[in-house]
Amino acid sequence: TGISPFQNEAFVDFSQPENKKAMEDALTKVRATLGKDIPLHIGGEKITTEDRIVSINPGNTDEVIASVSKASKELAEKAMQTALTAFESWKRVPAAERAGYLFRAAELMRERKHEFSAMMIFEAGKNWPEAEADTAEAIDFMEYYAREMIRLSETNEHKPLTKVPGEDNKLSYIPLGVGVVIPPWNFPLAICVGMATAAIVSGNTVLLKPASVTPAIAHMFVELMEEIGLPTGVLNFIPGSGAEVGDYLTTHPKTRFISFTGSKEVGLRINRLAAETAPGQIWIKRIVAEMGGKDGIVVDETADLEAAASAIVASAFGFQGQKCSAGSRAFIVESVYDEVVELVAEKTKALRIGVQEENFPIGPVSDKNAYEKILEYIEIGKGEGRLIAGGGKAEGNGFYIQPTVFADVDGKARIMQEEIFGPVLALGKAKDYKEAIALYNDTEFGLTGAFFSKEEDRIAYALEDMHCGNLYINRKCTGALVGAHPFGGFNMSGTDSKAGGHDYLLLFTQAKMTARKI
Ligand code: NAD
Ligand code: ALA
Repeated sequence: TGISPFQNEAFVDFSQPENKKAMEDALTKVRATLGKDIPLHIGGEKITTEDRIVSINPGNTDEVIASVSKASKELAEKAMQTALTAFESWKRVPAAERAGYLFRAAELMRERKHEFSAMMIFEAGKNWPEAEADTAEAIDFMEYYAREMIRLSETNEHKPLTKVPGEDNKLSYIPLGVGVVIPPWNFPLAICVGMATAAIVSGNTVLLKPASVTPAIAHMFVELMEEIGLPTGVLNFIPGSGAEVGDYLTTHPKTRFISFTGSKEVGLRINRLAAETAPGQIWIKRIVAEMGGKDGIVVDETADLEAAASAIVASAFGFQGQKCSAGSRAFIVESVYDEVVELVAEKTKALRIGVQEENFPIGPVSDKNAYEKILEYIEIGKGEGRLIAGGGKAEGNGFYIQPTVFADVDGKARIMQEEIFGPVLALGKAKDYKEAIALYNDTEFGLTGAFFSKEEDRIAYALEDMHCGNLYINRKCTGALVGAHPFGGFNMSGTDSKAGGHDYLLLFTQAKMTARKI
């Protein structure tokens, strides 16, 4: 088809003066746009409402990012009707043409990547490399899913059929209908773009309800899609309360699928509500739910302990531990336990905390609710383990918390079992690598994990026995790359989907078989 093979977007190196300058310029440019009103986008219409979501900078709570109009049930209904109408024409647009929109959007986002990253630095409290990785992943998702749609529609790779004499038989992947896309705030560009564009390129139309703490970055994406000329009504932007707009659309008879990434609690609620058939509904709603994690790292006595400790700290505290992939626990074999604990404490204490526009390693957590909840967990931790680093609030005009480590924590402790979603790490001791792996597996989640060892037979055991969707050997458990590390977990981590993988678009399509007598 003349389209180059997919390649991951290269990460920008901010130690280069020209790259540093480019980011500083983008921060200045984006700062000048802060505080504005953001409307809903329904079809070609931009709608302003009285009721608002006020998005603020979590690292400087005096700074307003945007005042965002909020959808009511009536506006959600209007968006649904618009998306239903748009679906009738969008589903007929050839797959390659739909993919073309994603290629154009990826190109334009690449040109402006620092502006997208700057917005996340202000709105989500990401530091420069974390924001850069988020933007790069968003670009990757568009490049990847565009190619995947072309592959699904033009090749037989996914669908080799048994041929019967006298018949021409085919399998085609057709879209589902109107989908509700509900992203989280923690990858407020990448996951929002990934879920929305996978649905769109597959021929569906979308109602996008952004996360309430990060609507402005989601809106930048919506504006980009308008700029590249995506037909109106294909992507509708309806910020609003999860409980009100979310429940309304989850139970709506015309909702064909829901693509959700977020917490276990909300994912289970959506799954339960969507399972009820509403009057007039003629399908079973499809739910793709990517949920939480209680991920961890296992270290045996043969491992490179320095590398293991660095990976534990990076996995636990990257973006303040607010990744579904965050390694919030580690189990270490007893003969090297004290040494690893000491290295982890030392490396954690060295992490500097500060405002993200100045690119400190540790910034604020997302919002007041999260801040209070994490501080509560730190108090719980004080009763469940030995505090060896951090332990409370940090200075700053925002939601700053010290990276906190507890040692000697029992596998059944709350801080070992519950997703805290903040900079809190629990360390536990095991008698040998098998016990450490058993402790790692003792969770209702199963998203990411890592194993550190130099022994081949143990690595083979870990590869087979550690039960998680994304397992890494001798490296950190965060930082999955589109195409290379299809992402998604087991058990309460979701519906076993793999974002950025070959099977992902099948979740947004249905297969139609046609056989013609010849
Ligand atoms: P959340 O569940 O609080 O919110 C996610 C989204 O759901 C938001 O847009 C929110 O407004 C919306 N929502 C809330 N109530 C709703 C309802 N009743 N109906 C419909 N939508 C509703 O999660 P969060 O705090 O934004 O994100 C953090 C969580 O996301 C963590 O648990 C994390 O592990 C998980 N996560 C998982 C993955 C993955 O790929 N598995 C990736 C990122 C984040
Ligand atoms: N894809 C993100 C990671 O792997 C969540 O860290």
